[in-house]
Formats: sequence, structure tokens, C-alpha cells
Amino acid sequence: MLASSILFGGVSALALIYIIQRVIHSILSPLRSVPGPFLARWTDAWYLWQVRKGDWEVRNIELHREYGPIIRYGPNRYSIADPDALGTIYGHGTRFTKSSWYDAWMTPGGWNLFADRSIQRHASARRQLQSTYSMTSLVSYEPYVDQCAEIFSERLVEMNKAGSVVDMGHWMQCYAFDVIGQITYGERIGFLDRGADIGGIMRTIENALAYGTLVGIYSRFHRFAFAVVSFLAGKKGAGRAFVEELSKARIAEEQEKRKAAGLEGKEVGVGAEPFVSKFLAKYERDPETFSMAHVMAGCTANMAAGSDTTGVTLSAILYFLLKHPECLRKLREEIEEYRAKGILSDTFAFKETQQMPYLQAVFKEGLRMHPATGLPMERVVPDDGATICNRFFPAGTIVGINSWVAHRNTEIFGADADEFRPERWLTSDGDKLAAMNRQWIPFGMGSRTCMGRHISTLEINKLIPRVVRGFDFELSAKDSRDKWSTLNCWFVKPQMFEVKVKARKPTAVSQG
Ligand code: HEM
Repeated sequence: MLASSILFGGVSALALIYIIQRVIHSILSPLRSVPGPFLARWTDAWYLWQVRKGDWEVRNIELHREYGPIIRYGPNRYSIADPDALGTIYGHGTRFTKSSWYDAWMTPGGWNLFADRSIQRHASARRQLQSTYSMTSLVSYEPYVDQCAEIFSERLVEMNKAGSVVDMGHWMQCYAFDVIGQITYGERIGFLDRGADIGGIMRTIENALAYGTLVGIYSRFHRFAFAVVSFLAGKKGAGRAFVEELSKARIAEEQEKRKAAGLEGKEVGVGAEPFVSKFLAKYERDPETFSMAHVMAGCTANMAAGSDTTGVTLSAILYFLLKHPECLRKLREEIEEYRAKGILSDTFAFKETQQMPYLQAVFKEGLRMHPATGLPMERVVPDDGATICNRFFPAGTIVGINSWVAHRNTEIFGADADEFRPERWLTSDGDKLAAMNRQWIPFGMGSRTCMGRHISTLEINKLIPRVVRGFDFELSAKDSRDKWSTLNCWFVKPQMFEVKVKARKPTAVSQG
């Protein structure tokens, strides 16, 4: 009895101290007049609760439309919707570091490029990786992408024969996984062959996304939460072990191969050697700055970041085309026109696809309407503070821009910013186009911009024209009537994107 009274008293005292602290902070803060939901002023639990609902990107846009360009979404968290703020927060050379939210995306004591909060350490690792992920290097992997696209088409033919409804979101992710497996390890993992969650990787990534998204908000509990979750995951955490084992095995094989061929310590060019080989060459040449941990982190990061993102984007582009048959028709007309002119090959060479204005407009519009990440990319205001939207933010404040918010800005994209309209990218107004391009940030911006954006660009530009030329897709009654359902766990992933696949005969290009 006495113990419980002491405990109750202790907890009450702590709660009181916390409330007093918050009230004082709130009164003295130069940001006290920033609007936002009432509870967000007092506790991060409000944001945690909202994010848990799985549609933060929608709520984030609504809040800005209700309150203006700066909103508070936690006691020290501010979401920004001002185009000028992009350069201030994310521009090259700024001193804004990633917020503590990113800590939960790393094994305690581990390292990865995405979650690294040190500007210097990150810059040094990124310099080492830059050439491997460059577009010049990636186009040499095009034949692998072709192989996967071919197998994907075979699956679509089978789906057509079976006449059943399939979850296209799942199959798009299978394609992305096999491409990234091939590029990273030099071998397909086999997702497209089996259509199954091999080694439990998909489920593990899904769990890791939910974990990072939610625990990141209270990242001071990450170490403890990680231990508990890892213990409880037991066998369900098998996907992580699968990727680690696969990486270790491929690293060992590759080391043997390089030794046998007398290649140890020699740089690998920008050819189609798997990434694991390129990472190893860096390690052998300079193990101090590029350790074995970097080799492992590079391989596993590709698997974690390179499948959902591409799968989500492919699904979104297909979904929007199906919802807008006139856009699909225009795209098909462009494809047939280029085929008829003999400037578009059967495999849809990446170089050729870059010359197709409507395809490029569809690509940009798809990523504008549905960028794969759906939470603010949080950064910490540096030592001297910063002025954003004509307001001073003291050092240590967390500010972030959500690409969903940036992409729905009606001043930049017009009154129809919520509409899928690829034609907006075909405007002859150079200033308008430049402004839209500046505000188009599906891959982030500045020194932390997406490392794998060229891989995805390659995969998407080749697959979309191929599948819409060869197949018709019928949306489920629910998706054709309403908006599709998605879940925002950092990646805004479709939930059961069900379609019926039908093979089609491409029609000759219409003449006017
Ligand atoms: C359409 C596909 C993709 C989208 C929309 C996307 C989006 C993003 C975004 C928004 C960021 C920045 C996050 C931030 O600042 O908080 C990012 C970073 C990153 N992405 Fe992607 N991504 C895609 C594909 C990929 C692929 C295929 C890979 C790897 C193969 C990849 C690897 C990475 C890595 C390593 C980072 C961290 C970069 C750094 O901090 O220096 N991404 N991505």
C-alpha cells in the first residue's frame, strides 16, 4: 500500500514537473504563436497517434491548408510548406542535420547511410559510393532490368490466362526486388519466379518500416525498444537474418573470386559487375574509410530501400493511368508512334524512353501525386538558428518538409494540384516549369538526396511502357469507384492494389 502510494506520488510529481516545464517552454518560445492542433503543442504523442493511423500525408496537407505555411505537429516539431524553405533546409552546404527520428532506422551501435546524422561522416561515405550509383554506371545494368521485365511480362501472360484478380502492388515489388538483387549480388533472388515472400524479407521490411516510423518519434527509447522487439520477433525477424546471410555469403564468394583472379585491391570500373564487387574493391583499397561494415550496410540498404519505393511508384503510376484512361490512351499513342518511326525497341531502351515527352510527363506526375515517402524529412536547425518563412527558428528546433505537401502546393502547381494531369509538365512556360521542377522532391534534396534514384528511374521508365503496351488492367470495383487504400509507414504503400490482367494487341498509331 505504502509502496503504491510512493509510486503514485513519484509519477504525479514527474508529470507535474513535465507539465510546468512544457508551460514555461511554451510561454517563452519564440515559436509560441505557430498554429497547429492543440495537443501537438504539449506532446509528441499526438504525432505518434496520427502517424499510427496511416494517412499522415493527407492530414499534413489538410493542416497546411487550414493553418498556413508553418504548422506545429509536436512541441518541437514544425512542418513547412514554403517553396523558399527547401533551399534553406536541404540545400547543399546547409548545416541542418537529420533529426533523432532517423536513429530508430539503425541497429543500435550500427551504421547506415540513410540514418547517419553526422554531416562529415555521411559526406565521406557518400563520396565513396557516388560513382557506383551514378547513371553512367547504372545503364550498364540495363540487360538485367530487361531480364526481369521479361519474366514480369511472362507472369502477366499467366495472369491473363488464369483470369484471376491479383495484387499488382505485390508483383511490382517482386520485380523491384529481383532487379535490385541482381544489381547488388549479381543474382536474382527469385521473387518473380515464385511470387512469394522469399525468406520473409517483405514482412521484415514492413515491420522495420513500422518500427522506424513510430519509435523514431520517441527515439530515446530506441535501444530498449529494439532489444524487446528483436526478442519478440524471434522467427518473424528471419527476413533480416536472410538478407544478412545472403550478403555475407555473396561477399565471401566475391572475395574468393577476386583473389583467384588477382583482382584484390584493384578498382572496379563502371561496368555491370554487381555492387558487392564494387563495394569490396573500395574496402580492399581503403579499409580504414570503407570498412567491411560499409560493404554490408551498402548491400542491405539496397534491399531495404530499393524494393518498396520502386514498387510503390510503379503501382502509383499504373493506378493513376487506369483512373485516367485519356492519359493512358495518350501514352499508348506515343509508344506506337515511336515504334512506327523505328525509334523505340522491343526492350524499351532507357535512352529511347528519355526522348518520349509524354512518358516523361507521366513519370514526373506519378511521382508528384504519389511520392513514395510520406512523412516530413526532419532536420535540426543549426547552431545560429535560421529564418524560414520570415520567422526565426532557434537552434535545435526540428523542421521538415513532406514531399506530399510540397507537391500539392497550389501556387506552384496550380488550382488543380490535387489532380493527376501529366500535361502540366509539357507547358511551354519556362519559368513555371522551372518552379515546378524546383518543388518536385520525390527523391528528397541536397546532400541527402536519394542514392538509388537512378536505379528506380531506369526500372520505371522501362517497365511502364512495356506493360501498358502489352496489357490491359482492370481495376477492382472498389478502386475504380473510390480512391485506392494506402498505408503510410514512411513509405505510402498501396494495400491490395487488385487488378485483372488482360493481354492486348497494340493498335496502330491513330493519325490525328
Ligand atoms: C522511386 C523510388 C525511390 C524514392 C521515391 C526514394 C525516395 C528517397 C527519399 C525521399 C530519400 C531522402 C530521405 C530523407 O532525406 O529523409 C531517399 C534516400 C535514400 N534512398 Fe531512396 N528512394 C527511391 C529508391 C531508392 C533505391 C532504389 C535505393 C537503393 C538501391 C534507394 C536508396 C536510398 C538511400 C541509401 C538513401 C539515403 C541517402 C543519404 O542519406 O545520403 N532509394 N530516398
